[in-house]
Parts: sequence; structure tokens; C-alpha cells
Amino acid sequence: MHFFEYKDHQLQCEGIPVEKIAEQVGTPFYLYSYHTLVRHFTVFDDAFKGIPHLVCYSAKANSNLALLRLFTNLGGGVDVVSGGELYRALRGGAAPEKIVFSGVGKREDEIEDALRAGILMFNVESSQELHAINQVAGRIGKKAAVAIRVNPDIDPKTHPYISTGLKQNKFGIDILRAPAAYRLASQLPHLKIVGIDCHIGSQLIEVEPVIEALRRLKQLVEDLRKEGMEIRYLDLGGGLGITYEDEEPPHPIEYASTILEGIRGFGCTLILEPGRVIVGNAGVLVSKVLYTKENEEKRFVIVDAGMNDLVRPSYYGSYHQILPVKEETREEVEADVVGPVCESSDFLAKGRKLPNLRSGELIAVMSAGAYGFSMSTNYNSRPRIAEVLVRDDQMSVIRQRENYEDLVRGEEIPEFLIR
Ligand code: LLP
Repeated sequence: MHFFEYKDHQLQCEGIPVEKIAEQVGTPFYLYSYHTLVRHFTVFDDAFKGIPHLVCYSAKANSNLALLRLFTNLGGGVDVVSGGELYRALRGGAAPEKIVFSGVGKREDEIEDALRAGILMFNVESSQELHAINQVAGRIGKKAAVAIRVNPDIDPKTHPYISTGLKQNKFGIDILRAPAAYRLASQLPHLKIVGIDCHIGSQLIEVEPVIEALRRLKQLVEDLRKEGMEIRYLDLGGGLGITYEDEEPPHPIEYASTILEGIRGFGCTLILEPGRVIVGNAGVLVSKVLYTKENEEKRFVIVDAGMNDLVRPSYYGSYHQILPVKEETREEVEADVVGPVCESSDFLAKGRKLPNLRSGELIAVMSAGAYGFSMSTNYNSRPRIAEVLVRDDQMSVIRQRENYEDLVRGEEIPEFLIR
């Protein structure tokens, strides 16, 4: 569900024609719909209202301050995986006691920042990390709340780059070794065990692997309780998929009700870390067709957004629907939609049947709200693009387009090269 629709043959975001926004901010740019974001967050959050729970929006999907503020306003917490994301969450107004800190490689300075901020808990991914957190907490006179991220060895049946809960993945502590890690945590003086965590993968289309993970986690919690450990929070991570092409992921209500069945009465507050399902279909990438060309074999549509702006197609082979901003009846042709970056892997679509696009017109690359801007880079010295948020008939540039000065900020030509 989203609020990008044609009206009078013009693609609109809520009450504003996309073309009008392009005239004001130039292309390319990311465009987000406020009401879609609110709706996705609210539907997800409400789906779990039968039990004590906390939705910690996963900042990595899209970490713009405006979005972080929006979800904070709706009562959400934030799942962060770096000092930078922690900084953003706090700047966005997130309540520290609703922040969870995940990630396999937390540095000491990041741990210290999180402790000083007073976050809800660290999702700890190794025994060495337990020692590191204990040591930092001791040094600054704090007690660190920890959960262990358990790797339940479950195949989430998604793209190998985004499955995380298998033994071969670097994430979490093997479920068989987790009890030993908990015993270690219970002995370290500056740690307080508060929870258990797992995240098995992203873009999940089936709910069964999540249920199986929950079953294994509960078994472990019961064993830990027998040893006198108190587990107040059970964090099931994020991962619920969305429709990019023809995938049929469970609706959040269906997803939630299956989880609720498994956890009701278990005595834990449930934490969820959704990213994509909240922001994915709430954003599009708007780009302009620069040129078209063809040879005997292929037709290319060359647009002004590249793999540095949206890397998902080239990195994961992901599908993103492409719509012309101006709807008109015209013949369909098969084409590769490619960017200006000097790599053959720089494409937004391959062999795609599309209306015969013309130089100068605008396209919208759909479902680009998650892992779009947040994975963008400056490759080929391309300034990162603007981000715009629309609410009804108001628009706001929530991130300025970078300029060339931004590109070289922090760089210096050393004295010994100046002659
Ligand atoms: N929690 C943890 C610990 C995670 O690692 C992730 C995503 C999430 C929550 C949020 O997952 P989501 O609800 O968005 O599926 N760049 C890839 C996705 C990488 C996901 C990494 N972890 C993509 O563009 O598909």
C-alpha cells in the first residue's frame, strides 16, 4: 500500500505531481510519502498491540533524521548498528531507553557512547564483545544491559547476502554455545542480562522460519530461567519482506498474529526491528532519461541515477518496478535502464519491458525507500542526491543535494606535494 498514484496521467506523491517536485529540486532525488510511512509503521505496531512490545525501527534501512523523528513521534524506538546510527537516532529525538544496539563489530568508543546515552540494551554477538562491554562499563561506572544475539541456524529462504541466521553467517552466537555465553555474562560484574535476540534475515516471504526461530529461542529462555537468569526482552529482529515485483509476503497482521500465538503469556516484552516493511514502498527514486540508444541486440535507456544512488539492482540483482512519470499510451519495448557510472554493472533494470521512454522524461524507480539512499555512495565523484518528504500538498527537502565542495570536504593536498 502506498500513496504514489497517477492522477490525470501524471504520477503524484500524495497531493503533489512528481514532475513539479523535479522542477524544484532537480533530478535525481529520493521521494518519500509521509502518509505511507505513518500507515506502515502504525499497521505494524498495532498488529502487536495484544502484548507488551516495542517496535525499534531499523535505522539502516533509511536513516534520514526526518524519518527517525517521524517514527519517534509515533512512539517507536530505533535499532542501531553503529555509533553513527546512534548519533542519528538521538539527533532524531529517539528516547535512549528505546534504542537497541546490534552488530558484530562494536568498537569501544561506540559502546561508551551507547552506555552514556542510556540505551535499552546491547545485542551482543560474541563472548569477546561481552568482555569488551563489561570493561567499558566498569571504566565509566555503569551497568550495561545485554541480550545475546543467538544464531539459531535457520534457513530464512531469502537472498544469500541477506540471510543472517545460518551457521555459515558471521552473525550471533551459535545457539548451542549461547548458554555458555549467558553464564559468562552473568559472571561479569558490569553486565546485566535483560534479553535474548535473533534476526534471521531480510526480505522474508515466509513466516515459518521466524516461528521456528522463536520456538528455539523460547526453549533456550526456559533453560536459562531454570538457571535463575531473567530474560525480560525477546527481540525477534526485522526481516518481513515487501512486494517489489510479484512476491507475496505475509501481511503484517498475519505475521504478527502467528508470532503472538507463539509468545503470548511467555513473560517477555517483544521487540521487533522492522526496516524494509516500514519504508521500502514509501519511497521512490526519481530520475531523468538522458539518452536512449540501441544496437542490433539491445536498447539502452540512460538515466541520470546510477548504481551509486541505488545499488540494489547491481548488488543483489533486485527488481524495482520502473514507471514513467507521465502516463500515456505507447508501444512497449525491451530495454536495459542504465546509469552514468563507469561500470557494466551499473543498471537499474535489465531486459525490462517498458513503455518506449524518451530523452528528457522522468521515471520513478519504485520501492526504493529502504536501502536506497542509505546505501548510496559518492562513487565516480557523484554528489549524493536530495531527499524529499511529501505530506498531502506540502513538500520538504529533508536532505539537500550534495555539491562539489561536499565531495572534497576533509581532503587535503599535503605540503610536500605543493610546489
Ligand atoms: N535487525 C537486524 C539485526 C538487521 O541486521 C536488519 C537488516 C534488520 C533488523 C532490518 O531488516 P529488514 O526489516 O529491513 O529486513 N541491504 C539489503 C538488506 C540488508 C539487511 C541487513 N539487516 C537490501 O537492500 O535488501
